Amino acid sequence: MTTALLLPAQRQDLDAYLAHGGYRALSAVAADPQRARTLLRATTLTGLGGAHFPLARKVTAVLDQPGPRAVLCNAAEDEPGSGKDRALLSANPHLVIEGALIAAVALEAGDVVLYVSQTATAERESLATALDERDIPGLVPGTHVRIVTAPDRYVAGEASAAISVVERGDGKPMGQPPYPSERGVGGNATLVANAETLANLPRIVGADGGGREPAWTRLVTISGNVAAPGVYEISPDNETFATLITRAGGLTGSGALKALQPGGPSSRFLPAEAADVAIRDADIRAAGSQPGCLAVRVVSTDTCIVEICADITDFFARQQCGQCPPCRMKTQMYQRTLQQVSSGKGSWDLLDKLGSVDDFVADMPRRCALIDMPTPPVDSARSLFPDDFAAHIEHGRCGSKVDGHSP
Ligand SMILES: Cc1cc2nc3c(=O)[nH]c(=O)nc-3n(C[C@H](O)[C@H](O)[C@H](O)COP(=O)(O)O)c2cc1C
Ligand code: SF4
Repeated sequence: MTTALLLPAQRQDLDAYLAHGGYRALSAVAADPQRARTLLRATTLTGLGGAHFPLARKVTAVLDQPGPRAVLCNAAEDEPGSGKDRALLSANPHLVIEGALIAAVALEAGDVVLYVSQTATAERESLATALDERDIPGLVPGTHVRIVTAPDRYVAGEASAAISVVERGDGKPMGQPPYPSERGVGGNATLVANAETLANLPRIVGADGGGREPAWTRLVTISGNVAAPGVYEISPDNETFATLITRAGGLTGSGALKALQPGGPSSRFLPAEAADVAIRDADIRAAGSQPGCLAVRVVSTDTCIVEICADITDFFARQQCGQCPPCRMKTQMYQRTLQQVSSGKGSWDLLDKLGSVDDFVADMPRRCALIDMPTPPVDSARSLFPDDFAAHIEHGRCGSKVDGHSP
């Protein structure tokens, strides 16, 4: 097993990247594209953008379509609390480029789009500088790599919305089918994969093209009530939430650990006892939440869970794009209800109605998964911390603060 790290301590320019063995994997598969196809069709890696879809299945679906094909590296990263893709582009842009180019070799894709958030100015520059340094070793002639700016909107990171931006659309989810693997960039079969997912391809291929599943490391962004929030690279087998919090400087304030939200704002909260859970996808699911893109929020007993839920639901209501009436209705109901509860004007009846709204929209058509996102955090917060809700509903406020993380 090999362990190559994703995040170096300092930014690696092309010379530093080459000195650390960079672009050897690309050169190896450029000489033997069938090898790249075999390795990517067999990998156990699941997508790290949040949904954890098996990469091998997506690669196979794109290969099942006739060429030409394309690759879209998704670094839109407007998920609140997540900074891992930005960290990668800042510190190791060539790793992301090499990963995207390995995918392009496997798929015989001539068009490679690096899709980066409008707000990530320094990271886009880091990527552009890396592309301009000089010819990339192993680059297959005729492969065109370009950076496309993602609008500063959460839904613009959804796969079909990203394709719509590249195709000069409005950056709203288009709904599926057709799936990007059927019709994407330029109307061609497209692999849409997260930047961290693609950054794993060089170590899947190996410097000699021999292919070995590495001892995975993962990028985690920790925020909330910790002294040193930020992006940390972890070995999932050796890291629990407790050890991660220690690495992040421990809790701030005088409170103890109250809750963890492991997978970004749409994931279920876990109680303090989950601190000893290993940060492995299966363990997080077994504990009752979702790993998502490992944007871990730490909540201390100084902090009001109701106000966090009000912030989260406000975010989803503001970010929904308005195309699907049930999503508009549901996200606005969640936003209004949590606002009323947090300001002391809510009731248990009002909160209970959210379950009916979920049931009402359950089978209605929608173009993306945002419609489902407000439910897990609110539902889990309510069942784990009924006293916080009771304080707001029965006494107007609970007296605790909200954390510094928004939403
Ligand atoms: C509202 C919404 C926003 C999303 N934003 C991102 C994003 O910023 N980055 C990302 O990689 N995936 C995002 N996704 C997931 C993408 O649709 C897609 O599944 C992902 O880019 C595939 O890459 P992966 O399989 O490597 O995770 C978002 C999905 C939804 C529903
Ligand atoms: S589900 Fe919501 S965010 Fe997604 S496309 Fe429909 S309205 Fe837009």
